[in-house]
Amino acid sequence: MNYRHGYHAGNFADLAKHAALLAWLRMLRAEGAAVRVVDTHAGAGFYDLSNPDFARSKEAEAGIKYLLGKDVPDSLKPLAQYVRAKNQGAGFRDHVGVYPGSPVLALDHGTQEDAYIGCELRSDDFMLLQHRISPRGEAVQSDGYAKAVALSADGDSRKQLYLIDPPFELPGDYAAIVTTLRDVLAAQPDAGALVWLPLKDLETFDGFLRHFERELPDGDVLVTELRLRSLWNPMKMNGCCLVAVNAPEGFEAVVTAIGRDVVAVFGEESGLARTWRL
Ligand SMILES: C[S@@+](CC[C@H](N)C(=O)[O-])C[C@H]1O[C@@H](n2cnc3c(N)ncnc32)[C@H](O)[C@@H]1O
Repeated sequence: MNYRHGYHAGNFADLAKHAALLAWLRMLRAEGAAVRVVDTHAGAGFYDLSNPDFARSKEAEAGIKYLLGKDVPDSLKPLAQYVRAKNQGAGFRDHVGVYPGSPVLALDHGTQEDAYIGCELRSDDFMLLQHRISPRGEAVQSDGYAKAVALSADGDSRKQLYLIDPPFELPGDYAAIVTTLRDVLAAQPDAGALVWLPLKDLETFDGFLRHFERELPDGDVLVTELRLRSLWNPMKMNGCCLVAVNAPEGFEAVVTAIGRDVVAVFGEESGLARTWRL
């Protein structure tokens, strides 16, 4: 595996995904439910943006650092405030030195009754993840798809939220997301899931959605497309997409605003944001 999330941490796609995850967690918190988050592709937990190897990509510069230097739109304010507070806590007063990934974000918004399980296959990032989240959360070095399916059958009575955020280095990730969700939802029909996908060309995206509809024809599924530009160049990441299954009430309005605001801040004139039901 070549993919390392450190190169991409804090980019526009992370901001969209993490703003949506944060909103979802806060909605569950407001309901007062105990929650178990299963993060099938966890990464290293948080990211040191001063790491010279990672900083060379300049993705955080064009993402979180750019955002925090602006008048932050309302839908992104909770994430911006959280990242600012995290940096102040880490001693960074005048710049963004760290960016929290999904494991740390989920743990920072949980309670004693909640649980977090993060899967990471790479040994280097797994070691970092384990060091950074344990004992608050559990890090496992195993395939996130298989682990999610196994966990869905273990009878845990908390509200379940699956975050599925693969690197898409392998074309098989698209099919694995669908079959994993099919099996998880067969065991836990009320489980929530938030999936992140890159948007490069329309055929890959449509193929994924067709497969999704075949396997999960009756799902409660929201699709948010964030196209930063028209999709004429399939070699480029032209945007991203968030697919939400069994999202809490009120999430649709929030994710719609997140899509609109991320495209307004980071997109080109041909950009487009929309949320629709599958
Ligand atoms: C996009 S990153 C995750 C970012 C993280 N969810 C966040 O938001 O901070 C994807 C991670 O999945 C890991 N990975 C790839 N295939 C995996 C698999 N089958 N099971 C678990 N982890 C995997 C990669 O090493 C990489 O660290």
